[in-house]
Amino acid sequence: MAKLWGGRFQKNTDKKVDDFNSSIRFDKRMYKQDIEGSIAHAKMLGKQNIIPNEDSLKIVKGLKELLVEIEEEKVVFDIDAEDIHMNVEKLLTEKIGEAGKRLHTGRSRNDQVALDIRMYLLDETVEIAEMLKHLMSVLVDIAKDNTKTIMPGYTHLQKAQPITFAHHLMAYFEMFKRDLSRLSDCRKRMSVMPLGSGALAGTTYPLDREFVKNELGFDEITQNSLDGVSDRDFAIELANVLSIIMMHMSRFCEELILWSSHEFSFVEMDDAFSTGSSIMPQKKNPDVAELIRGKTGRVYGHLMGLLTTMKGIPLAYNKDMQEDKEPIFDAVDTVKLCLPVFGDMIATMKINKDVMLKGAKGGFTNATDLADYLVKKGMPFREAHGVSGRMVYRCIEKGISLDELSLEEMKEFSDIIEEDIYKAISMKTCVDGRNIIGGPAEEMVLKAIKNAEKFLNN
Ligand code: ARG
Repeated sequence: MAKLWGGRFQKNTDKKVDDFNSSIRFDKRMYKQDIEGSIAHAKMLGKQNIIPNEDSLKIVKGLKELLVEIEEEKVVFDIDAEDIHMNVEKLLTEKIGEAGKRLHTGRSRNDQVALDIRMYLLDETVEIAEMLKHLMSVLVDIAKDNTKTIMPGYTHLQKAQPITFAHHLMAYFEMFKRDLSRLSDCRKRMSVMPLGSGALAGTTYPLDREFVKNELGFDEITQNSLDGVSDRDFAIELANVLSIIMMHMSRFCEELILWSSHEFSFVEMDDAFSTGSSIMPQKKNPDVAELIRGKTGRVYGHLMGLLTTMKGIPLAYNKDMQEDKEPIFDAVDTVKLCLPVFGDMIATMKINKDVMLKGAKGGFTNATDLADYLVKKGMPFREAHGVSGRMVYRCIEKGISLDELSLEEMKEFSDIIEEDIYKAISMKTCVDGRNIIGGPAEEMVLKAIKNAEKFLNN
């Protein structure tokens, strides 16, 4: 088949080169953005009298019809037409004849692809933001039921101080809230319209770039034609945001995998979100959480891949940049696959509240509060730390918890200890005493939940 750019060639491309060069396999998913961009461009060409107005009208009508036909799967793309841009132009010209050949006036595939990918990613980020918000509302719902669910908080994966499960969930809410803001930040720099950059050096036609920007709903237009066609920093930035989203999900997944082990038994995944073993009949594996953790590596890989693709290419466009699409598309697809399944998985898991409480009680998570009790009775903190530590050691020897020591035995360590110690080191006092902003006390977590709901309803 004759190439759209075949004029200066004496020979056909090698069949292998056609396959090798072609990106239609993966860039066909931008058909809608390509057509919308072309409609705006054609309208502008007509308005500026760069092409006859009647041709502009024919092109717009033809492109609209083509969009419907593609959506109804009536169209077969041609690998010889290389990419989505040339496929659309070729299909349009087959449909409307001569006028179709005027569409590419004042435009290059270099600024066209820069436009399409921005539009595509802008659309996808709207969906991802919605999914993130939904996940955040799931976290809030579970948190609401667990403001009294005491569990051990950890540092170094060693029991540290008691918190509540709601407090733990709301920590993830904060992380996803920042992800949402990163996503909207990244959209600002993506929403810059590159058409008019041409191949690299702009164009001699009197294009109305502002008009095209407004037609397509962009915030700004690119200010340098070389930059407009040759950077993919917006895709890299998005891959970074997506990596952070995955990292947050993955950390939680790791916790859930640990917590569903027999040793922890803090949670149990619903049967619908677990799988069995082909050999070991007793097994119930948290595969969904593991797969999300695994897919995190895949998204990080795409970020590194994109950075590496871009690091050494001279300005302006180089064909290397066709390699931006598969990684960023797969990163987007992966996040869109993980977010909803993660939300459903946590919404359906069983929370073993008494095991969590037992876990908090069992690990001397109130040892700091014991020291604080002594401080409040006048002992210097460093000394109180030592007393509390020695009492913990006694309990370890006896296999009991701090509140199981008798008052007499406690007094062996310090005679300022009174009967009120038991209340001071109860799990509930330990949690509810931490009623500072951001703390795990029920009143504070309830406030955090209220703020979260306000945020989500906005
Ligand atoms: N398919 C190409 C890409 O994805 C479109 C731009 C091609 N431009 C060129 N001069 N070869 O990057």
